[in-house]
Amino acid sequence: MTDTERGRGAYDLPLERPLDLLREVYDGTIRRRLPRVLGVYNGVVTRRYYLLDLTQSTNEPAYKQALVEGVREAIDPGDAVVEIGAGFGVCTVWAAREAGAEGRVLSFEANAEQTRVVREALELTGQVAGEDLLDRVDVQQALVGSDLETYGSMAGAARVEPAALPDCDVLTMDCEGAELDVLRELSVEPRTIVVETHPTHGAPTDAVVEVLSSKGYAIETTPVTTKEGGSKDVVTATKSSDT
Ligand SMILES: C[S@@+](CC[C@H](N)C(=O)[O-])C[C@H]1O[C@@H](n2cnc3c(N)ncnc32)[C@H](O)[C@@H]1O
Repeated sequence: MTDTERGRGAYDLPLERPLDLLREVYDGTIRRRLPRVLGVYNGVVTRRYYLLDLTQSTNEPAYKQALVEGVREAIDPGDAVVEIGAGFGVCTVWAAREAGAEGRVLSFEANAEQTRVVREALELTGQVAGEDLLDRVDVQQALVGSDLETYGSMAGAARVEPAALPDCDVLTMDCEGAELDVLRELSVEPRTIVVETHPTHGAPTDAVVEVLSSKGYAIETTPVTTKEGGSKDVVTATKSSDT
């Protein structure tokens, strides 16, 4: 998760500058004691920012747009879905809605507070949509594969080896660079894999595409321009029926 996604981007300064030091102290002490505010992110009601966050925006219709579109296109009603890196639950909610009442989503998130945020997003958005989304999703606090950058502490997280992930129709990943190791060690063959790449965290698009191609997947990429000005992609990998 980037600084901007955490709501800190507006006052980014080099570490040696006093304001940046103040920010580090504030983030490590006061910020997480403040309440989080509800907002709507790509149609999902969730708590993304803390009160007083300078970049706080409570309405982002295009939050994670490329990933949300990739997830929505990949999932059919009745599908079994595995998600790694649930974050604020935006993609989790859309996965649950696309899988429908007959489908199931197993969602892994390493940070305890984020798992609560995800469950709340399922409950609140489900109320608005008139669907019991919580019933379709098993949110587990677990670190899958490597710990490259989890959001906050991993205290209490179980560890899941990528080779032990259960079979599923669709696998979706947005886990801050852990994607590459998970894909290398994956033993199941989902019909579709949707990955947000993280070039700055050791999971660049070309390496993700190489691993997926070597496993017999056909690849489509959609560029994502980040607020920081860098670029990454959403990679959709589909197993053709004759491979
Ligand atoms: C950018 S957020 C995901 C946002 C999410 N796609 C959404 O729609 O709200 C990334 C999340 O992945 C989690 N994470 C990072 N590495 C992980 C790993 N190896 N296993 C499980 N969760 C991980 C972080 O704690 C963070 O909450």
